[in-house]
Amino acid sequence: MTSPTQLPSWKALEKQAQKASDVSISSLFEDDKQRFEKYAIELPYMMVDYSKNRIDEDVKALLIKLAEESDLVKWRSRFFNAEPINKTEQRPVLHMALRGSVDESLNIDDENVSELVNTELAAVKNFVRQVRSGEWRGYTGKWITDVVTLGVGGSNLGPQMVSEALRGYSDNRLNVHYVSNADGVQINNVLTTLNPHTTLFIVSSKTFTTAETMRNANTAKRWLEQSGASQGDIKNHFVAVTANLQKATEFGIGADNIFSMWDWVGGRFSLWSSIGLPIALELGFEVFAQLLEGANMMDKHFISQPFEKNAPVMLALVGIWNSTFLGRGSHAILPYDQSLHMLPAYLQQAEMESNGKSVRWSGAKVDYSTCPILWGQLGINGQHAFYQLLHQGTQVVPADFIGSVESVDPVDGHHDLLMANFFAQTQALMQGVDEEQVAAQLRAGGTDESRISELVTHKVHQGNRPSNTILLDKITPQSVGALIAMYEHKIFVQGIIWQVCSFDQWGVELGKMLAKGIEQELHNNTENKQHDSSTKNLIDRYKTVKSR
Ligand code: F6P
Repeated sequence: MTSPTQLPSWKALEKQAQKASDVSISSLFEDDKQRFEKYAIELPYMMVDYSKNRIDEDVKALLIKLAEESDLVKWRSRFFNAEPINKTEQRPVLHMALRGSVDESLNIDDENVSELVNTELAAVKNFVRQVRSGEWRGYTGKWITDVVTLGVGGSNLGPQMVSEALRGYSDNRLNVHYVSNADGVQINNVLTTLNPHTTLFIVSSKTFTTAETMRNANTAKRWLEQSGASQGDIKNHFVAVTANLQKATEFGIGADNIFSMWDWVGGRFSLWSSIGLPIALELGFEVFAQLLEGANMMDKHFISQPFEKNAPVMLALVGIWNSTFLGRGSHAILPYDQSLHMLPAYLQQAEMESNGKSVRWSGAKVDYSTCPILWGQLGINGQHAFYQLLHQGTQVVPADFIGSVESVDPVDGHHDLLMANFFAQTQALMQGVDEEQVAAQLRAGGTDESRISELVTHKVHQGNRPSNTILLDKITPQSVGALIAMYEHKIFVQGIIWQVCSFDQWGVELGKMLAKGIEQELHNNTENKQHDSSTKNLIDRYKTVKSR
């Protein structure tokens, strides 16, 4: 497979990128009154507007050509037809099957995928009914009031982000808590507020070997046992979601209490599987089903729409234009809806663990930049923190602004204020304000000329800073499902064009392995002579201070 840099469209885009600093986004709007219509995509539950980017019709056409020359259509059908596109782990990638988006006749290892998914969904539905109705009880016969999900990374971020996003749809029947950190402070803070007799734990771990999750699971088991529970009582309080039946059984969770996962679902794409169990417990199975429905809608859009009107494809291409061709090293995720406050953290894993790679499928080193650094937080809070840099800093940071037309919990006067800021910020980033305008404003306010000349350059906003706007109609289970699936497909498209293995994560292994050895040293008070002097001295200091 030749490098994408050899594609004619890639070479042409490199040439366009050299001219991009001369392109003014505002002028593009002045020159083309139809620009918005050409660069915005209307789809169920939302609108995606990528018009405020340094992209003209030539660049747009070349980006689309890049997708074509990268054989995106062929790769997309390989993806949906369960070919082993996760090359290094030799697995298909089929999280779309979890929301009914693959052919019903699709089999993997002689098993029908849709049947597997439906059986598991039925098990989730039944369990949710049992717990929420009080049919499922704690070992002393009390109703379950609290659910604690123990998991990290993909086994935590997706469900927790959705729980937070859709909390407005909860009937408050169950309180759901999430514990991911190896820092005992987190689990302690949660457990001290809970009653063991009414608490259910979900151990969410695809591998059932993740150290942080296993440590938390053991701590939780001890806590339950300290309340007087016997080994036999564990079954009332622990369920697992895992692909590793053996390990979960060894931990003491009976086969009946284990929900399955499959190799063809990657951790960071797994919230649609039984990893989403805490979502269904908290919000009810119906809401979970609506979340899947929204994602299914986005899958259909992704499969059927021409590239130009295909939101995940265009977001991916615009992202590649900004990061690879224009050299923007980071990308901000700025939700203006309180419900989406965890979206930046979720997307950090989804995008960076997927496409934060520097070798191509072939193993050859890339000679172009791939995934930018994703970061962000609620936009309205960011305005009073880091937006200074977005407007006037030396780096240009492309950003996704995500907001909703209707609030889930309207409070008089609040939503218009919030959304006025949402609209104003993308406009300000694009338009900026030049010396002449600054001086005129100061003059109009009565500032004298010497003060104006002192101030003027400090108040200039260069503008011409790119952004995408994603405007949801409202936060609903369907719109949140669609939003997440849109980003998932964006990741897929970018991985194909960059030719990186989006579905493995070898880069997390080395640190895990070293931590294992160091934990032994700390525990047994032994010394590893191979450490560099920094690591050695830091460990020594840790031991010394600890033993004081
Ligand atoms: O360490 C990274 C990672 O493997 C993620 O890819 C994954 O989502 C997370 O750890 C949790 O893994 P598991 O579900 O196997 O505990």
